[in-house]
Amino acid sequence: TTPYEVSEEGELSIGGITANALAAEFQTPLYVYDVTKIRQSMRAFQQVFDEEQIDYVVSFASKAFATTAMYEIAAQEGIHLDVVSGGEIATALNANYPMAHVSFNGNNKSEAELIMALDNGLGTIIVDNLYELNMLSELAAERGIVQNILLRITPGIEAHTHEFIQTGQTDSKFGFDVDSGQAEEAYHIASGTASLHVLGVHAHIGSQIFDVTGFEAAAEKLVAIVHDWGFDPEVINTGGGFGIRYTDEDHPKPASEFVTAIIAKIREKTGAYGMPMPAIWIEPGRSIVGEAGTTLYTIGSRKDVPGIRSYLAVDGGMGDNIRPAMYQANYEAVLVDQLDAPTEQVVRVAGKYCESGDVLVWQQALPKTKPGDVLAVLSTGAYGYSMASNYNRNPIPAVVFVEDGEAKEVVARQTYSDILRLDRHYI
Ligand code: LLP
Repeated sequence: TTPYEVSEEGELSIGGITANALAAEFQTPLYVYDVTKIRQSMRAFQQVFDEEQIDYVVSFASKAFATTAMYEIAAQEGIHLDVVSGGEIATALNANYPMAHVSFNGNNKSEAELIMALDNGLGTIIVDNLYELNMLSELAAERGIVQNILLRITPGIEAHTHEFIQTGQTDSKFGFDVDSGQAEEAYHIASGTASLHVLGVHAHIGSQIFDVTGFEAAAEKLVAIVHDWGFDPEVINTGGGFGIRYTDEDHPKPASEFVTAIIAKIREKTGAYGMPMPAIWIEPGRSIVGEAGTTLYTIGSRKDVPGIRSYLAVDGGMGDNIRPAMYQANYEAVLVDQLDAPTEQVVRVAGKYCESGDVLVWQQALPKTKPGDVLAVLSTGAYGYSMASNYNRNPIPAVVFVEDGEAKEVVARQTYSDILRLDRHYI
């Protein structure tokens, strides 16, 4: 089966509209999301928990795709939100998102961000370190608030993924270390602080993970840690990180398998210790939006380096998708109206940025192409738009949501005046 939708005419189609029609209406480069797929992935997580009949929260790790429209979908679907900055809090406010359903992660939240969180009634703050714990307890006390918190633990689990997106290993900037006693000290301080209520613990072991064993190990470890402290948590949050399909080489398990494994492990371990079953919280980002997003580009120049390779250049690149340059990430591209045509070339799809590492697809077999053709890079919905930049002063592309055959622009394309708006003359 193809990982994409095909129209009656045999063209790539998204939510019932052909990619060519979307490119013609909204121009390229263009981020397009199939909203039905977003809803389906959200509901798939909820369904497993519902079937297991346990208390749970599924929070969208909104760093993967932080926009007002996306937060509106999350609200509509009863999905909570995890934010990591004042900017994401501002986006939630702009979306009229119910702030009690927002959690706040991050290893260096500023005082201003913590105040913004408290003053807007964010449900949970995921405390990362002692500096933050002290600051938060005072800020909450000054406001007469009892703030719900989770303590972020570094469980010492090394997930098998790219080094830069591993986060659970001991040598990490995130969370309280366990072996040195930091985590337990934090628990004792927090549980003795009247302005804080410790709901439980949190760990995030990494991202784009295919193996359930890392999550099981983390779940098991979290239960053992709180049991050591004599703490029966109301909540255990095992973070996000569930892997998705980018290319044929990726064989992700359905979200349900990860969740089932996490639930089973927490049930087993809390049962063994005679602890009450806590609510389980998860924070998927990529697995909610990754495969729902497609980026459309227009093909421009081509360079053949005889005997080595051909570079096919498109009108976007590392400014709209930094992941290949940053993590050697792999993607798959298709020529939107030649899905079944025989392949005639193997190319590296490059962008238009002044950088050799500006690659979108390292190696892609394609039919014959010509300038002006629309090329789609698949599964770009996570950490594409959210990590976009104005490098080389290229405008950030528009974002379009498609659902049931209707397309709506939810982030406008940047203009040159948007880019220049904050520039000031010096001379
Ligand atoms: N929770 C926490 C605390 C996290 O740090 C992250 C991701 C997530 C949840 C969501 O992980 P996900 O389900 O999306 O894998 N920019 C990188 C990924 C960095 C992820 C950082 N934290 C990328 O493009 O692959």
